[in-house]
Formats: sequence, C-alpha cells, structure tokens
Amino acid sequence: MSITDQIQKIRSEFRSDLENISSENGVVDQIRIKYLGRKGLIASLFVQMGKVDADERPQMGKVLNELKSEITIEIDSLFIADSIEVGMDDQAVDLTLPGDPVSVGSIHPLTLVLEEIKSIFLKIGFSLAYGPEIDMEFYNFEALNMPKHHPARDMQDTFYISDEVLLRTHTSNTQIHFMENHEPPVRIIVPGRVYRNEDISVRSYCLFHQIEGLFVDMGVTFADLKGTLNYFARELFGKDVITRFRPSYFPFTEPSAEMDVSCIFCQGKGCSICKKTGWLEILGCGMVDPEVYKSVKYDPNKWTGYAFGMGIERIAMLKYGVEDIRLFYNGDLRFLRQF
Ligand code: PHE
Repeated sequence: MSITDQIQKIRSEFRSDLENISSENGVVDQIRIKYLGRKGLIASLFVQMGKVDADERPQMGKVLNELKSEITIEIDSLFIADSIEVGMDDQAVDLTLPGDPVSVGSIHPLTLVLEEIKSIFLKIGFSLAYGPEIDMEFYNFEALNMPKHHPARDMQDTFYISDEVLLRTHTSNTQIHFMENHEPPVRIIVPGRVYRNEDISVRSYCLFHQIEGLFVDMGVTFADLKGTLNYFARELFGKDVITRFRPSYFPFTEPSAEMDVSCIFCQGKGCSICKKTGWLEILGCGMVDPEVYKSVKYDPNKWTGYAFGMGIERIAMLKYGVEDIRLFYNGDLRFLRQF
C-alpha cells in the first residue's frame, strides 16, 4: 500500500476509534499510544518516508505532519475532557477550582483627606504649588520674619543638615519660593511633607504632612480669610459646623489666628475628644506680615493677603477616628484595608 493510502487509512481508523470511544479511564491514553506512541502508526509512517522518491518526499512529509498535528490536537482535547469527567489525573487542569485571590490595594487615608482638601480649594480658584523638603534656613525661617536667634524658631524643633540647610519644618517655606518667582496676584495651596525633631508618640511623629494656603492681591482683608476658611470647614466637615477664630501668634502673619471647628463628635456639647471644650483646633492662619513682602520684594503698600496652614494627619485622625498617628506610617494592612 502506498504511503498516501496508508495515511488515508490511518485517518479513517482514527475517526472510527474516536466515535467508539468510551469514557473509561485510560482509553484515551491507549489511543494516544496507538497513534502517537514511539512505535505507533504515525511513527511507522515516518520510518517509511526513507523509501519515498526524493522529489515526492517534501509533499508527503507535509501531509504526514498534518495528520500528526490533527491527531495530537484531538487527543489533547480529549485528555482535558476526560480528566474533568473521570477524575484528577496528575496532569489534569481542574477548571472547577476557584481562582487564586487577587488582593487589590486601597487608597491611603492621608491621600484620601489630601485629595478632598485639594478639591475644595481647587474649585474656588486656588492652584497647586510645591516646594523643596530640603531647604535653606532663609526660606524656612529668615524670610518668614524669623531671624537667627528669634525665639519663635523654638516653636519647631528642626533637623539641621548643615549650618544653613535643614529639613523644612512647615510648608510656609514655599510661600517665599513662590512669591520670589511670581508677581501677584497669588492664589495657591501647597501640600507636602514636613519634618520636626519631636519625640515619637501617639500624637506626634518626626515627619507629617501639611497643606499651606496663600492668597495675595489688592485689598484682601481678614473678612476674605474668614469667608474662605468658613466655606472650607463646611465643605470638609458638613454644613452644620461652625468656626471660631482665636488670636494667636506666628512671626509671618499679623494679626494671627487659630481656627477651631465645633466638635464634629458631640456637635459642640463637649466630649472626651474635644476635651469638654466643644471645639477642635484645625489650623493656623493670619494676614501676611508686611515684613514677609519685603523679603520677596512685593510692595506692602500695594498688596495684602492671607495665609493658612494645617496638618493633614490631624484632620485625618478626626475624620476617621484614628487615635495613634503612627498608624499612618507603619504600613499595617489591617489598618490600611479599612479605607
Ligand atoms: N506654618 C505654621 C505652622 O506650621 C502654620 C501657618 C501657616 C500659620 C500659614 C499661619 C499662616 O504651624
């Protein structure tokens, strides 16, 4: 019988084997050995190829290879079906098993709060600005009306890198960088990381995040400051929140104030979180001191403005009832997965 005839014969034999297949374990493997095994029918045809005329050999080889791959594909698919039906063969793929769980990350609570604060100010016309975390003493202190040996420098324990270079203690350094490079009007918010050499505890850490605000234009008054920050407090904490401004001191603002919101836990009645005062301290603010304009060469007779700064951790702790600031930094998934 010619090889072509034999190929035809094997093909139809394979077809009829397939039709008569039963689902008994091992039958598929018998068929595989019969056709594809080392001494199987296909292998024996390959042996006979040596006898074929050289000019017919390529064509014959092609037909034979086609038959081989046709049978291989059929048998592979039978193996999969067979192992699902019959049971767990070693090489089986059990398509009914549940998949491996994929863990999806969550957004860090500080990012959530920061995004919310940003969106409140961006909606009313503020733009984002950023400044350096490693900075000169000049920007962090001097230009903000805190000359060397000024006692206000003690308000913030500073990490010094050298005599004149430090890790910024507040985002207010960016007020100076920005005004140095832009003419008024200025209307920016500045989020960022700040560093203070404080003992680590449930309430303080060696780094934290602030968001600074700076508005400079003609005829800006304290009423503008209050209006904007009242709006901000209600957007962030709810429309029933009321604010109060207490006199305070910062070298770079005059007058200066601290803004409190009515306690969001007891609605101002007094509870353990507001220490029975009914108020929560949220941020520091004030009208930009004319001394600051001098260091950035703005005309203090022409321009007025306000500035404010708040700690993001503090707001996140209030909003989410977090009692230990260190939870924000140690990457504990049990904490992070709650957001
Ligand atoms: N920089 C001040 C602080 O870190 C906050 C502040 C910013 C106060 C702007 C007034 C104006 O405490």
